[in-house]
Amino acid sequence: MGAVTDRDLDVVVFGASGVTGRRVAAYLAERAEETPLRWAAAGRDADRLAQVLDAIGVSAPVVLVADVGDPRSLAAMAARARVVLNLVGPYTRYGRPVIEACLAAGCHYVDLTGEVPFVREIIDEFNGPASEAGVKLVQICGFESLPPDLMVALAAERAREQWGEELGAVDLELTIAPPPGLPRPSDAISGGTFQSAAAIIATEDAASVTDPAVLISDAGVAAAVRRTSPIRLGARRGSGAAVLAPMAPAPFINPAVIHRTAALAASAEGRAAMPFRYREGVVLGGGRASQPARWAIAGALSATQVGLRGLAHASPRLRRPVASAMARVGPASGFGPAGNRLEGWRWAIWVHARTTAGNELDVHLEADGHPGYLATARLLGEAGMLLAEDGATPDRGGALTPAAALGTACIERFERAHLRFSIGGLSAAADAAGTRSGR
Ligand SMILES: NC(=O)c1ccc[n+]([C@@H]2O[C@H](COP(=O)([O-])OP(=O)(O)OC[C@H]3O[C@@H](n4cnc5c(N)ncnc54)[C@H](OP(=O)(O)O)[C@@H]3O)[C@@H](O)[C@H]2O)c1
Repeated sequence: MGAVTDRDLDVVVFGASGVTGRRVAAYLAERAEETPLRWAAAGRDADRLAQVLDAIGVSAPVVLVADVGDPRSLAAMAARARVVLNLVGPYTRYGRPVIEACLAAGCHYVDLTGEVPFVREIIDEFNGPASEAGVKLVQICGFESLPPDLMVALAAERAREQWGEELGAVDLELTIAPPPGLPRPSDAISGGTFQSAAAIIATEDAASVTDPAVLISDAGVAAAVRRTSPIRLGARRGSGAAVLAPMAPAPFINPAVIHRTAALAASAEGRAAMPFRYREGVVLGGGRASQPARWAIAGALSATQVGLRGLAHASPRLRRPVASAMARVGPASGFGPAGNRLEGWRWAIWVHARTTAGNELDVHLEADGHPGYLATARLLGEAGMLLAEDGATPDRGGALTPAAALGTACIERFERAHLRFSIGGLSAAADAAGTRSGR
């Protein structure tokens, strides 16, 4: 990679005192015992940082003080790092100066935002300069949306290698098994995530969040994505008798990322983009709920998402007071799952892809740890390490999705982060499908 030359730090975790940031720091500390990783924890308050990390038994080898309101501190941080992992949200409010500092210093940048209108802004403004500089600006790189993004990219590559065909339809199902014991509200969402949701609702262009093509710059490709793969919010039947609810916590994020990855891959390889139909959902299983009860729950979850979509499309005069009330009375920064509620989660993703000619393949993922706040921290840490290593990821810069930035060759590395990907179920199309495709 041309841009990132010698630095004294491989990875810096900025916002390391936060609910997710402290777990990223813990993961990097663990990894540094096995490999020569040079990492630092960064935050606006060194004492608080030390106190928070101390409480979870983490000692950072280097501590940097940086504040999003102090551009010089951001420049100094970025100048020392190959990769900055930014955990300071809401990103709509705080992200831009960190991105600017990284780009100016020629340092790769990664964040966890799900604030899609903000990601759109960053693509519009910084994709060109970042491509020229060979700097990777990687957004939405947590549970949302690294696993689904890599899995669908892998299916697309495999279909091309195996059959020379493009994907026509992709279904993704997520299964989550929480740890035993009564669920708590803090298991579901951190204050940081809640405040980010409020920030999206306050955004001028909040409606764009429901557009599956919001992250695609080419108008023709975007129109084809909207036609082929609109985001549907209804409860529906999945594989077998599974009842599927819309993706949690938000059904609007993964589709936008996955379609951008496909468009970026097509343009990098000089092919015409061929949008596919993408659907995703959470399997309502486990427990003793009857099938009718599952449909009722899925219906209620769908209704909630329909309500949120309605709010995103409402006039700013209505949205802004709602967003500021949410930000005031909702959980604030620091609220999140207790340390003893982070382990013990098991989750799996199954991707079933079908090519335009009817050939089929599956990609599986088995993972553990709280998806949002422990698995996310581990996979972000591993992604940061990969980006810091020469030659470990594709040699390209720009405002990129996780799969475009990391490539699929690295998926085995995520085993260390407790994510086990496998590809299987390659099945040639039935004769009838072969006939349909004219082969
Ligand atoms: N994509 C995903 O799957 C995923 C998963 C998890 C989280 N997220 C996102 O990640 C973000 C962080 O979530 P979280 O729950 O970890 O948040 P959090 O606990 O509120 O942490 C926020 C961090 O930002 C720091 N900070 C705030 N203002 C700052 C400033 N002016 N300068 C420097 N640092 C500042 C805080 O430092 P202090 O401690 O000093 O206040 C804290 O370290 C949210 O936007 C959330 O939506 C996404």
